[in-house]
Amino acid sequence: MKTQVAIIGAGPAGLLLGHLLRAEGIEVVVIERAAPDYVLGRIRAGVLERTTTDLMDRLGLGARMHAEGLPHDGFHLADGERLIRIDIEALTGKKVMVYGQTEVTRDLMEAAPERGLEIIYEAGDVALHAVDSDAPYVTYSKDGVTYRIDAQFACGCDGFHGPSRKAVPASVAKAYEKVYPFGWLGILADVPPCHHELIYANHDRGFALASMRSESRSRYYVQVPLDEKIEEWPDDRLWDELATRLGPEAAANMTRGPALEKSIAPLRSFVFEPMRHGRLMLAGDSAHIVPPTGAKGLNLAASDVHYLSEALIGYFKRGDADAVAGYSDKALARVWKSERFSWQLTKLMHRFPDGDAFDRRMQVAELDYIASSLAAQTTIAENYVGLPL
Ligand code: FAD
Ligand code: DHB
Repeated sequence: MKTQVAIIGAGPAGLLLGHLLRAEGIEVVVIERAAPDYVLGRIRAGVLERTTTDLMDRLGLGARMHAEGLPHDGFHLADGERLIRIDIEALTGKKVMVYGQTEVTRDLMEAAPERGLEIIYEAGDVALHAVDSDAPYVTYSKDGVTYRIDAQFACGCDGFHGPSRKAVPASVAKAYEKVYPFGWLGILADVPPCHHELIYANHDRGFALASMRSESRSRYYVQVPLDEKIEEWPDDRLWDELATRLGPEAAANMTRGPALEKSIAPLRSFVFEPMRHGRLMLAGDSAHIVPPTGAKGLNLAASDVHYLSEALIGYFKRGDADAVAGYSDKALARVWKSERFSWQLTKLMHRFPDGDAFDRRMQVAELDYIASSLAAQTTIAENYVGLPL
């Protein structure tokens, strides 16, 4: 098979990119390892920046998001005693949208057939070839048969563990990485949220986050050691821990319920440079990971896709090869700023096993400063709603 752009991975990055290119009449094939239900079953991001919601609107796929999503004009940092409200709308003029990654993915998946976006699910042994030539191709196997797709560009949207990044030779690449000594244990439950806005709490016992998916579905997280076993966290223990860490006000309003989903995610900062090698372009988690504090991962995938779609549309519509050549630098400039914000908020809000009393007092002083300074709150707010493209 021949196409103009082969996209590896049908997560949010691959699907968004596929739709943006199809909207311009560019030929695209998306190759995904998993089945559709598996892709939809992963409970991940919950907070969308305006850059991300704007992309859904530009595609004409934002109707359900606006009907069912919850626009938020503020969130809270908690320091064990008080809630510090960051009024993002007053400070930046922008809101964020609470709308789950699963819903974004569903909207993009469901619109694929009518827009002629071909997605091949359950593709095994996906491999990239000749990416530094003018004729890259992708091979995969399905039902015992091996297939080959010839393309002009291969786009690696296959997440942190996918094969695309590994197709860039080590001699031209550099990876930057920080692994944090803890993870997030998340619970999803059909109970009303304990607060109408998100709460990020730094408690002596560790970080906790109160989030939501709707007015009747809550999402919570607690910081746990990396080697923690999920079996050691029956629902009651998790609810007790959340009530302690989120503080008395949230605890008083917390409704408990059985877990629909419970999982542990490790925390990592990671950037891979460059994000283009020849005719291979990387976007989203395949090129970078942020720790989830600050809700940047999916939004960064969306901003990569914005830059990448502009570059490929420029190439196919105007023969502009410079845009393709400039993609990596453009995307990385924004990636590093989001990495900085996520790293800083992670350091501010978590208990580090090797942290001493001085480190703790620094966190308390910084939270106290944020509570008293509109300048500090503005810095946090403008990063939280998303830096300009
Ligand atoms: P992925 O979603 O990982 O998609 C990659 C796709 O490629 C998958 O469908 C995968 O099956 C496929 N694939 C993998 N290997 C292959 C292969 N060999 N061949 C073919 N296909 C392959 N981000 C936010 O912005 N806000 C948040 O609130 C937020 N909260 C989070 C909470 C948690 C607990 C976690 C874990 C993450 C969170 N994130 C958040 C991050 C966000 O989920 C990711 O950044 C986002 O999923 C990245 O999208 P992607 O399309 O790049 O990668
Ligand atoms: C959620 C996840 C985050 O990482 C975050 O910062 C805010 C919300 C969530 O899953 O709802």
